[in-house]
Amino acid sequence: MNAGILSTGHDYPEGILTNADLEKIVETSDEWITTRTGIKQRRKAADNEYTSQFAVRASERAIEKSGLSVEDIEIIVCATTTPDQILPSTGCLIQKEIGAVNAAGMDVFAACSGFLYGITMVESMIRTGQVKHALVVGAEVLTKYVDYSDRSTCVIFGDGAGAAVLGPVEDGKGILATKIMSDGRYEEQLFAPGGGTKMGITHQAIDEKAHCFKMRGNELFKVAVRSMAGISKEMLSKAGYTVDDVKMVIPHQANQRITDAVASRLKVPDEKVYSNIAEHGNTSSASIPIALDECLESGKIVEGDLVLMTAFGGGVTWGGTLVRF
Ligand code: COA
Repeated sequence: MNAGILSTGHDYPEGILTNADLEKIVETSDEWITTRTGIKQRRKAADNEYTSQFAVRASERAIEKSGLSVEDIEIIVCATTTPDQILPSTGCLIQKEIGAVNAAGMDVFAACSGFLYGITMVESMIRTGQVKHALVVGAEVLTKYVDYSDRSTCVIFGDGAGAAVLGPVEDGKGILATKIMSDGRYEEQLFAPGGGTKMGITHQAIDEKAHCFKMRGNELFKVAVRSMAGISKEMLSKAGYTVDDVKMVIPHQANQRITDAVASRLKVPDEKVYSNIAEHGNTSSASIPIALDECLESGKIVEGDLVLMTAFGGGVTWGGTLVRF
């Protein structure tokens, strides 16, 4: 029995941070941000909003659309790099709020590839019969870890959550190929050194903004294109398809130029590559499930379509998943 994505949902904060707003905070311009990243605005959580609130709303929408009862969910995997708190996991906090009393809740920590990490984990659990129904969530409030004096990172990241309910589907449908990878040697391409046991939680570390994201954007760009294009080709060939068979490619929404470069390497036309980066920015692990839900809701993806998802992120991590809806 294959595992398939039965339904999706998403949610994001009401607050919007436009490029014009950022022009007032750092030395940047709408023109620079638009041409270098494709981003026009991003969602930003209010001070009293936190990750699991968006995750819970996205999850409830996905579960409602699946037609299942919340008691049917046997595992909740929340992909996040910006949890509500260090303990317990955001997966457990989501479980409490939605009332998934028959589930195990946990987090995966794989930055922007986290949603595909979660999908890959639960795919084998469903296929082998260990669980029947799973909830995979990607949820982030990245803007609370952004240094708003660092113009190379603060223009990129936004907040939001997306969720998917997975379960058994008939043969020939569902997840046809999925793979996750990482290379820790690239640790310092995107990292936040503070907040953990290495540096300690000290006043000095907080004053130095050690908990905020640091990025070597230029180097990351090249690894991102190479890894996403490579794993996408591998997933297609593993499942016996070519890019012509694919209805929609959903790449992690990191930067429009990265998306364009991956599309060009895959030789896939622009109209088959989904992009919402102009409105959402980079929402890390939430970007693919938000995009997927938008595609399903708008009818860009319908039953029978072959969809290729690919992501990369800090770690560095990357992944690819090919699904027949
Ligand atoms: N506004 C204006 N100028 C900016 C700027 C901003 N927001 N951010 C950086 N710059 C400047 C730099 O200081 C640099 O100036 P200099 O030449 O005087 O030193 C110049 O723009 C070029 O910087 P560079 O880093 O080479 O730009 P870039 O074309 O690589 O674009 C990124 C920067 C971050 C947009 C791009 O590298 C990128 O998107 N990388 C991938 C990042 C990513 O996807 N991260 C998430 C991973 S999941």
